[in-house]
Amino acid sequence: MSQKRKVAAGSAPVILAVLLAGLFASGAAMAEGKKSWITVGEKAYAQLQKMAPQVIARDTKTLRTNAAGAKVASTEQVHLVEVDEEQMRKLSEAIHHELKRCGGFMFHASEAEGKRSLAQQAAPPATLATLTRPAYTLDNAALVTPVLSQMQAGNITTTINDLSTFVNRYYTSTGGTDASNWLRTKWAGMATGRSDITVTQFAHTGYTQKSVILTIAGTDNASEVVVLGGHLDSINVSNTGETARAPGADDDASGIASMTEALRAMIANGYKPRRTIKMIGYAAEEVGLRGSKDIAANFKANNVNVVGVMQLDMTNYKGSPNDIYLFTDYTDALQSDFIAKLITTYQPGVTIGYDKCGYACSDHASWTAQGYYASMPFETAMGQDNPYIHTANDTYANSGNQAAHALKFAKMAAAFAIELGSDGPAVVPTQRVETFTGSFTAGQIKSFGPFKVISGGTLKGETTGTGDVDLYIRKSALPTTSTYTCKSDGAAAAETCTVSMTANGDVYLLLKGYSASTYTLKVTYSPQ
Ligand code: BES
Ligand code: ZN
Repeated sequence: MSQKRKVAAGSAPVILAVLLAGLFASGAAMAEGKKSWITVGEKAYAQLQKMAPQVIARDTKTLRTNAAGAKVASTEQVHLVEVDEEQMRKLSEAIHHELKRCGGFMFHASEAEGKRSLAQQAAPPATLATLTRPAYTLDNAALVTPVLSQMQAGNITTTINDLSTFVNRYYTSTGGTDASNWLRTKWAGMATGRSDITVTQFAHTGYTQKSVILTIAGTDNASEVVVLGGHLDSINVSNTGETARAPGADDDASGIASMTEALRAMIANGYKPRRTIKMIGYAAEEVGLRGSKDIAANFKANNVNVVGVMQLDMTNYKGSPNDIYLFTDYTDALQSDFIAKLITTYQPGVTIGYDKCGYACSDHASWTAQGYYASMPFETAMGQDNPYIHTANDTYANSGNQAAHALKFAKMAAAFAIELGSDGPAVVPTQRVETFTGSFTAGQIKSFGPFKVISGGTLKGETTGTGDVDLYIRKSALPTTSTYTCKSDGAAAAETCTVSMTANGDVYLLLKGYSASTYTLKVTYSPQ
């Protein structure tokens, strides 16, 4: 995963030898180092065995990496081990170099917690019972299209460069804490004037960096939650010191920037979701998915009905023939199929590939482990991704000096947020009758409405009373005595007129006392 990967393939064993030598040379110091419990996948465990044979698995479980119902089962052995922090970094580095894949791992606070977590990861279907499975229909083009057409690569560039300016965003460093505060302030500023949008920070135990959570409250289906996320931390694997440079422009300023541009355009268009939408900048992903693990566990403990999760981690480096690669392991196949449909529908020129990422490669895995439906669209095929990540050279310039690639992910993210965000319980139209009484002096006017029409029907106004009352009805706007859809202006208080509609809409009424009058107005909505 560093620029060293650019060396000829034949020299890879040399690199591993150097890494192994480094590991064993520091063996004595290691024994004194801080120990952590982590769960690792098969490939990482095999690598660990070579590098540090003294490390033995304290627990092992076989996990399903695809859906329990899939025709061909795909499984992976996951092991619980206790390692030194230095070992952890070296392991990840060696796996990226040697195996051209992620050396993902999940951090655990203790051996007992690791065992509990592993048991839960091995049995996710049982936890899915109470979740709502979305219909995955694409029926909100009228809301999606104007938002996508507003989105611009230049805004993504700005956010990537702003986040890259922190010396590093390591989870224990000053820059890491500052970057979290910066993101909170940026998102809160974008939401000014929207009382339905809030931005909070989620504090974690053992380090100062906080996750940032933006919430757009759903209008009428708020208990169902759609989550989009990326990680706000960065890492330089060869030096995690306070002043070590780790711009993390692609990993993962790009993901945060893609999400932020989707948010900006949604706000600019006045979009208000029916479901609640949350955008999350996770803390401490690079050290074992620690931020997202806390948040997903917290949501699960509070029975939050998260109906879908999208992870944006590395969106701006174009290194493969196709544009967007959907990972098929530790992700939800139905939701990923829906994302593929979103891409082909709203960005017809954007091509899709499929690949695997391995165990615990990014924050979507924290949600999958809790039984939620999660997906991860990625910038390249595995092994062709940005070679500069986790080094001082993960810069905007080294991502191709553009944000055109990240814009595809931003548009996909907005389509995901809006198509999932716009679903609510079906409103069943029923007959409604409302009555109003009052009196008029000669020439006096009163307005009534709007009266809601759901999927069409008729709206009838009827008056009774004394004197002379005139009735006007208009679709979509207030009537006047000269602009109306229907009128009834006989020389008495008894009037009646009806408008009919074929879709959702609003109807307004106007009454005029032609002479001094009293009235009872009855408004009846009858569905189609
Ligand atoms: N963005 C990477 C994951 C990634 C890298 C996916 C390259 C696909 C290709 C992520 O931030 C990361 O570095 N993950 C670690 C695991 C993590 C738990 C420390 C990894 O993959 O080694
Ligand atoms: Zn990342």
